[in-house]
Amino acid sequence: MSIPAFPELPAHFRFAATAAYQIEGAHDEDGRGPSVWDTYNHTPGRAVGGATGDTACDHYHRYPEDIALLRDLGVDDYRFSISWPRLLPRGSGPVNPKGLDFYDRLIDELLAADIAPAVTLYHWDLPQALEDRGGWRVRESAEAFAEYAAVAAERYGDRVERWITLNEPFCPAFVGYAEGRHAPGAREGRGALATAHHLLVGHGLAVRELRAAGAREVGITLNLDRLHAVSDSPEDLAALRRAEVLHNEVWTEPLFTGRYPEHEAETWEGLADGPWRRPGDLELIGAPLDFVGINFYRPITVAAAPRREDVPALRTAVDIGVTEPNPYGTRLTTMGWPVVPSAFTELLCDLHSRYPQLPPLWITENGSAEADSVTPDGRVHDAERIDYLADHLAAVADAVAAGVDVRGYYGWSLLDNFEWARGYEQRFGLVHVDYDTLTRTPKDSYHWYRGLITAHRARTEEPAR
Ligand code: FCB
Repeated sequence: MSIPAFPELPAHFRFAATAAYQIEGAHDEDGRGPSVWDTYNHTPGRAVGGATGDTACDHYHRYPEDIALLRDLGVDDYRFSISWPRLLPRGSGPVNPKGLDFYDRLIDELLAADIAPAVTLYHWDLPQALEDRGGWRVRESAEAFAEYAAVAAERYGDRVERWITLNEPFCPAFVGYAEGRHAPGAREGRGALATAHHLLVGHGLAVRELRAAGAREVGITLNLDRLHAVSDSPEDLAALRRAEVLHNEVWTEPLFTGRYPEHEAETWEGLADGPWRRPGDLELIGAPLDFVGINFYRPITVAAAPRREDVPALRTAVDIGVTEPNPYGTRLTTMGWPVVPSAFTELLCDLHSRYPQLPPLWITENGSAEADSVTPDGRVHDAERIDYLADHLAAVADAVAAGVDVRGYYGWSLLDNFEWARGYEQRFGLVHVDYDTLTRTPKDSYHWYRGLITAHRARTEEPAR
């Protein structure tokens, strides 16, 4: 196997990421309440193979082993999420002391291993009690989110390096409420714009709480998409415009310019000025951030498509088609995602040139799902993942060379885990998990990443740990 060369990166590039529902398990232990994902997965016909996160990687019990893996990997920073319903089982109101204790133990164990905690507050596990009262369709959830942020900041703020309010609000808002392919499984098409707005309001309110509690660094993570039109026809270019609003500008414009997207009416039609937008919201949402997290996996190519009122999907509601099969002619990961690292550089450079006020960027997720298995030699030979990571890290290095301020990189993910609607079939980990025995086996990519960190540390002449 030929090992690709290590890309040269600026200082501080050595991290890994996970999310609570995807790894913790212990779904009904120690007072945790249900989230929309528990309800969703316990509904027949949802996740692939009827999978649930009930046990997942059992990280709730095995976190010391997982932190040892992180320590041996050499990361000096670890991004994980707190499960909102573990802290506040009903979303607001009574706090669960055992939930608070779990993250105390996790954070303290990380610090003992010399790893700085980076916490995501919302990685999609909305407490079911809030969904029962309207979920992100109503402003009350944004207010409850602020209450939860305040509880977390007060308890852990002395030890957390970096706070991420929301992870990829696109997914809960549009995949969850417009298309129903994620929890809570609602199919409300354009109407989901209200949920996008309430997520942003929740972000703004949480930032206020985090600042008031003296949090160190505060930001948000977005999965902005590098979009291409399938052709230069006026119809396809108009579809690209609508898609830019839907995928990117709905977040970036309020967050970084304090305005709603200029061309949004074409995408949202009569909804653009919904009553849920209130005076003062833009100031709240657009409050300055210390960083913005970017998650990137693959680019998307769009085309004009006839409206399909019979198909409950947001893109069809705004006359956008996603071209299939892969128009890039490159390899696909097992997710069916085309591998196009240059699109990552384009995305970062474009963002940098469009928004002069953009705070520093962190890559908060990037990685690939591959058909991994433990071979008779007891190892996992995931050469394709190594190529993917090396090429995407090189793409980040290209953006940095072009002047984009990128401070760090978190690979997705430390462990194979519960991949939402795709269940356990998609393996993104640097560490293989056998879901029958829960045995962890570091893959070749884990060893490569460790080598990258060691080489990087030596090159940037940071003191050895
Ligand atoms: C992102 C999610 C993360 C994981 C990866 C593959 O959209 O934030 O939880 O599922 O995709």
